[in-house]
Amino acid sequence: MVNSIKYSKESSTTEVSIEDLVKNKIIVRVTDNGEGIENQYIPRLFERFYRVDKSGSRKEGGSGLGLAIVKHIIEAHKEKIYVESVFGVGSEFSFTLEKTKESTKV
Ligand SMILES: Nc1ncnc2c1ncn2[C@@H]1O[C@H](COP(=O)(O)OP(=O)(O)O)[C@@H](O)[C@H]1O
Ligand SMILES: [Mg+2]
Repeated sequence: MVNSIKYSKESSTTEVSIEDLVKNKIIVRVTDNGEGIENQYIPRLFERFYRVDKSGSRKEGGSGLGLAIVKHIIEAHKEKIYVESVFGVGSEFSFTLEKTKESTKV
């Protein structure tokens, strides 16, 4: 969510949705209409310290660790994280989570 705000122009939007995926899983999606990411950079986004724009021309600083940490946490739960992005249009990061036994019952 922080990335979706950081890499978007002012007054663009971030949407968070939570949906049933299969019986015992949900998918959480964070969607923005920000700057998007060129296809060639997408495979490296989850690497430690990787940032698309390292030139320093970007006013927003960062360590490039955020997505690497997120991926570790998701994978520690044996879940999946996905990214889809269109340069100049926006990005969607999503991840799955297992429902608790209680919420599966409902
Ligand atoms: N929602 C997004 N829109 C555009 N680019 C993004 C988005 N999220 C991540 N990125 C790109 O992926 C890189 C890595 O993100 P992250 O691991 O969170 O590190 P940081 O935000 O510290 O640079 C960012 O530097 C940015 O180039
Ligand atoms: Mg970040």
